[in-house]
Amino acid sequence: MSLASGSLCVLLITIPSFPSSFGGEIWISAQHPALFHLLSHSHLLHIKSTTTSAKMLSKSLLFLASAALALGTPVERTVSCRAPMPDPSLPLTGGAAELPPPPAGLELKVIALGLGIQNYSCASVGADAVSTGALAMFYDISLLYPESGPNSLTIEKFNQLPAFALNHHAIPLHFNDSTVGRVEVASPGASLKRPFTRAAALDLGEEYGKLPFLGHHFFNTDGAPTFILRRGSFNVVAAKKASVPAPGSADPGPMGTGAVAWLALDAANSKGATFVYRVETAGGNSHGCSKAAGQDSTSYAAQYWFYGPKS
Ligand SMILES: *[C@@H]1O[C@H](CO)[C@@H](O)[C@H](O)[C@H]1NC(C)=O
Ligand SMILES: *[C@@H]1O[C@H](CO)[C@@H](O)[C@H](O)[C@H]1NC(C)=O
Repeated sequence: MSLASGSLCVLLITIPSFPSSFGGEIWISAQHPALFHLLSHSHLLHIKSTTTSAKMLSKSLLFLASAALALGTPVERTVSCRAPMPDPSLPLTGGAAELPPPPAGLELKVIALGLGIQNYSCASVGADAVSTGALAMFYDISLLYPESGPNSLTIEKFNQLPAFALNHHAIPLHFNDSTVGRVEVASPGASLKRPFTRAAALDLGEEYGKLPFLGHHFFNTDGAPTFILRRGSFNVVAAKKASVPAPGSADPGPMGTGAVAWLALDAANSKGATFVYRVETAGGNSHGCSKAAGQDSTSYAAQYWFYGPKS
C-alpha cells in the first residue's frame, strides 16, 4: 500500500430534516484504506479512528440515512473525488549536498515524529564527544502531511512539527536523576531500567492535536539504530549510509547546541521498511566535552521517513 497513490474521495451525507449533528462526511482515501473520517457539520463530533470503529461509524451514518429515507425524509449524498496527489517528497536541506533519493522499487510507508535524546560520551575534558546512540518515542504523522486527509497541514507547518514538539512538550522518556558521571548536570540520561514512557498519543495541544503513538527508537546491543513500530510490524535495524548537515535555519534545540545531521539509513533485511531517513531535525547535538568527562544526552526531535518494498 502506497502512502501516496490513489485518489481521495469524500462522501457527504446530509439529512436536512435532522439536527446538524446527523450529517457528516466520510473521507475515503484510496491511499489509506484504513483512513475513514467522520466529520459532523457542526464539528462537535470529530472522529478520526481506526478502520473498525470508523467502519462502524460510517455504517451507522448510512443506517441513519436509510432510516431517514424509509421515513420519506430526503437525504442528500454527494461523492467527490480528486486526482491522486503527488508522492510526498522527501525534504531537501537546500545546502550544497543532499541525501541520496530512496532506492528504486521502494515506496513510502510511514512518516514519524521522533522525540527523545541523543547520547554522547566524553573520554576526557577537551575530547571530541562520541555518539553513543539515541532513544526516542515515535508518533505517526503521515496523515498530517499536506493533502493526506482532513487534518493535514501546510508543508511549512508540517516541517515545523519537530521544532514545535521539542520546544513545547516534555521529552516522553523516564530520566535518571543521578548526576554521577554526567557531562551536563542539567541534561540527565534516560533510566537504564525503563527508558520509555507509556505508549500513548503525544498531545501537542491546539496547534497540532494528538499524534498517535507509533513505536520506539533505540540502539541495539550491537550499537545499530533500531526502530520497532506498530507493535513489531516494523522491525528495522539500520546502518548509516549518508549524512548531510542540517540547514542553518534548523532549530538548535532548547540548549542551543544545534540540530543533528540529516541521515539516510540502509536497513536491508528489515521487516516493514528497508530504508530510513532522518530529516527536519531540531536540537540533539552534544554539549561538547569542555566541562567534564562522562556521559552526555541532548534532547532532539526529527521527522523519520520509512520506505519499504512496494506492496
Ligand atoms: C543512551 O542511548 C543508548 C542507545 O539507545 C541506550 O542504550 C542507553 O541506555 C542510553 N543511555 C542513557 C544514559 O540515556
Ligand atoms: C542512574 O544513574 C546511575 C549513575 O550512572 C546508575 O548507577 C544507575 O544504575 C542509574 N539508574 C537507572 C535506573 O538507570
